[in-house]
Amino acid sequence: MSDTRVVVLVGSLRADSLNRRIAETLKAQAPAGVTIDIAEGLGEIPFYNEDIDGESAPESATQLRKTVAEADRVLVVTPEYNGTMPAVLNNAIDWLSRPYGTGAVVGKPFAVVGATPTPYGGKWAHEHARHSATIAGAKVIEDVVVSQSAMEGDILADDEVVAKLLGAVQTLADAS
Ligand SMILES: Cc1cc2nc3c(=O)[nH]c(=O)nc-3n(C[C@H](O)[C@H](O)[C@H](O)COP(=O)(O)O)c2cc1C
Repeated sequence: MSDTRVVVLVGSLRADSLNRRIAETLKAQAPAGVTIDIAEGLGEIPFYNEDIDGESAPESATQLRKTVAEADRVLVVTPEYNGTMPAVLNNAIDWLSRPYGTGAVVGKPFAVVGATPTPYGGKWAHEHARHSATIAGAKVIEDVVVSQSAMEGDILADDEVVAKLLGAVQTLADAS
């Protein structure tokens, strides 16, 4: 049987992003039977605008749609900006939600995790991303809730945290 392909959308463009490091750790330690790829170039995609969508949609958006359409699952790994998801992630979800009813996320198992250096770990961003993806037509796995506080030390050096994040990947991969 072929591997379950999980594509990761990282909600931070920062070179030293903790959330990107989480995504890279999950990719490197993916559970057996799961292949993880990180979608690149989210920062190059123009803000969603119906005037530029359609046959001549920007190459960067078309590439993201193709990458997600070819994956079996979508995992968001994101921080929180001003109590919600970063604009780059919201923009990606908007592009993936169209064409209406047949966007690349429609019907696709979808989960959200992430970390921020606050006690709440980005929980509003994660709730909002789940809500937005549901409206976009994704099959959001509500059981996956990892809003990890990263107030002290390197959370990726903590085996329990990494196990929790890998457990989220497994739950997403097992979803039907
Ligand atoms: C514009 C901006 C707004 C932010 N707002 C929040 C917030 O509402 N909640 C929160 O937990 N952290 C907030 N932060 C802190 C980020 O969570 C923190 O910078 C985090 O490390 C970013 O993730 P990254 O390391 O993956 O880039 C904000 C940071 C920025 C730059």
